[in-house]
Order: sequence, then C-alpha cells, then structure tokens
Amino acid sequence: MSYILKILSSSRMKVDDRNNIIKGIYNEKYYILCSIKKTGFAMENQVKFIRYPGGKRRLLKYILPYIPSSNYITGRYIEPFVGGGSVFFEIDPQEALLSDINGDLIDLYKGIKRDPKKVWNIYKNFPDTKKGYYEIRDSDLTNEDLYYRSARILYLNRTCFKGMWRHNSDGDFNVGYGGQDRRWVINKQNLIEVSERLNKALIKKSDFSNVLNDLEEGDFVFIDPPYKPGKKEMDNAHYSLCQVKQRFIVIDITFM
Ligand SMILES: C[S@@+](CC[C@H](N)C(=O)[O-])C[C@H]1O[C@@H](n2cnc3c(N)ncnc32)[C@H](O)[C@@H]1O
Repeated sequence: MSYILKILSSSRMKVDDRNNIIKGIYNEKYYILCSIKKTGFAMENQVKFIRYPGGKRRLLKYILPYIPSSNYITGRYIEPFVGGGSVFFEIDPQEALLSDINGDLIDLYKGIKRDPKKVWNIYKNFPDTKKGYYEIRDSDLTNEDLYYRSARILYLNRTCFKGMWRHNSDGDFNVGYGGQDRRWVINKQNLIEVSERLNKALIKKSDFSNVLNDLEEGDFVFIDPPYKPGKKEMDNAHYSLCQVKQRFIVIDITFM
C-alpha cells in the first residue's frame, strides 16, 4: 500500500532535512509537499500539565493553523513522538493514538488517565525540600504501582532543574533539583482535565516506526521528532536528546 503524505508545514528545516526524515520514515513510499494554511486560529482550553524539552506549547500559534479541528479528522489523531502532548491537548481530538519511546513518560500518562485523583493525592504529599527531592528521585521503584510512578515523574518534572528530562546509562532519571516554584502551578482539577482528554486516547510505549507502519485511512499524524544536538550542545550538560529546536512536521495521510 502507498500513501500520499502532504507535508503541511515544517519549521526551521531545510527541505533536504525534511525530505530525509520523511524518506527515512516512509522508505519507498510517495509523498508530496503542499502548503495549506488556515488563518485566525484561536487557542482555547489550554491544559496545564508537564514541562517538556522540545515541547511546542509556545509554538502552538504557528502550528495550529496547519492542523484540522477535531471534527474534520475522520480517523485517529496520532502523535508518535508525543512528549508533553501540547498539540494533542490543544486540539482535543475525538480519537487518538499517543506514543513515545520514553517509558517513564508513558507511565505518567497512563496513571493520570486511569485515576487522576489518586495520582494527585500522592503528588501533593511528596516533600518540598531539596533533600526530599533527591530521596524521591533516587528511590527504588521495584514495588511501586503505576499511580506512584506516575505521581513521582510528575513531581520530578515540576521540581527538577528547568523541566529537563535526562537519564543516566542505567536509565534512571538524573536531573538535579530546581525548586518548588513550578510545583503548584498545577492542581487536582488540571489532572482531571488531562485525564478527560486522555480517555479518548490509546497510549503506548513504542518506537515511532511501529506506529507509522500501522496507519489507516483518515488518520492525521503530527510528527515532532527529537532534535539531535550538535557537538556544542552535546558538550553542554544542560542539553538532552530531545532539546527544543522548533522542528515539526504536520502530515496528512491519504491512501492511494
Ligand atoms: C521534540 S519531543 C516531542 C515534543 C512534543 N511535541 C511536545 O509538544 O511536548 C520528541 C519526543 O520523541 C521521543 N522519541 C525519541 N526517539 C523516539 C523513538 N525512536 N520513537 C518514539 N519516540 C521517540 C522523545 O522521548 C520525545 O518525547
């Protein structure tokens, strides 16, 4: 089966970069470029959730004009690199598939989807000191359930240094303490709203290629792959692999 991929927009990418990404993903399939743009898109219902490296929350006004409103997506809305899900939360589709390779992140989503109040009750009781942060960050998770893991990642995300997301070679979260200033920006009601939106989504840990190999007619895909840092950025410990570079691709799938 072949598709026509309409690349509706991409930012800060040379055409060659963009084509290579698409060719890499859809080897031997067809694609065309076009530029359809709506105007006057109003941002509504912004949901407060996590801070995420490479998150597109601040770029929504540039991205949303290229995305159909949820009523016009006949299949699923799909994000194979969901990260903080800023576009998903904004458009609030009827049916979605959200996936990412980051297992901690997927646990966070699954816990909140299933029981936001339970996650909130654990979150609000975590310590408010630097020492406490490191105790929670470095604790053994072997016997902890989904809700604890979900609340813990939310806590680490909201209190770590600048919302960074980095793991050591053993796969353990290793970002230093950032403070409590951003912790109470979210509240129980926010998590309930997040959960309501996630209830319309299938959430899974997966490599993007599995998701893209399984598309169906009418699906709409927002692809926001990680940016691979250059040497200067790799030498700077503050960068992680999905550091923001304002790259995104919006793709509409039409089967031939
Ligand atoms: C630029 S971030 C996405 C940001 C998101 N659009 C937002 O607004 O928050 C890229 C994401 O790709 C994920 N990722 C990296 N490699 C991946 C892979 N091979 N398959 C699936 N996800 C991957 C990272 O874990 C990260 O969450």
